Amino acid sequence: MLKTKDILDEKNKILHTKSKDVTFPMDEKDKKMIDDMIEHLTLSQIPEESEKYDLRPGMGMAAVQLGVPKRFFVVVHEYEEGKFKNYVLVNPKIVSSSEEMIYVEEGEGCLSVNRPTEGIVPRHARITMEGYDVDGNKISYRAREELAVAFQHEYDHLDGILFTDRIDKKNPYKNKDKYRAI
Ligand code: NI
Repeated sequence: MLKTKDILDEKNKILHTKSKDVTFPMDEKDKKMIDDMIEHLTLSQIPEESEKYDLRPGMGMAAVQLGVPKRFFVVVHEYEEGKFKNYVLVNPKIVSSSEEMIYVEEGEGCLSVNRPTEGIVPRHARITMEGYDVDGNKISYRAREELAVAFQHEYDHLDGILFTDRIDKKNPYKNKDKYRAI
C-alpha cells in the first residue's frame, strides 16, 4: 500500500521535469503502481479510511509524483457520494478544450504541495482527452467541471508543471471575475 511519504514533495526536482512517453506493453511494475495509486486515492477520499491510514484526500496522482517520470496518471472521481469512477490515462493528449475558463474557488490542491497557497488556477471548463489504457487500447474522455480540472492538473504534472506555477505571482486573483468559480 502507498504511504503518504512515498509521494514526492514539490521541492524534488523531478516534479519540475517533463515525463517520457510510455511504450507498450507497459511494465508490470508500472501497472502495479497504477493499482496502488487507485487504492490510495480512493481510500484518501473516504473519511474513515483517510483518518485510519493518515492519508491526505486527493483525487489525482501522476506517476512522476512517485518518482517515475513516465506519462501516465490516475484520477479517482467521486461522482456521487461514496461512488467512485477511476480514470487511467497513458500518453494523454488534450484534443479539444472549451473557451470558457473556470477555477476551483477554494483553491486547487496537490499531494506534492504541502503548504497553504493562495490564488486562482485558470482551467478550461470542458476538455476532451485522448490517450491509452494500460493495455495500449486507444481511449477518449470528455470531462467537465471538477473532473476537467483534475485532468488538466494531472496532465500538467507530465510536463513538470505544478498548479502553483499557474497562479499569477503578482496578482494571484487575476481574472477572478472573468472566469467562473466552481
Ligand atoms: Ni498534483
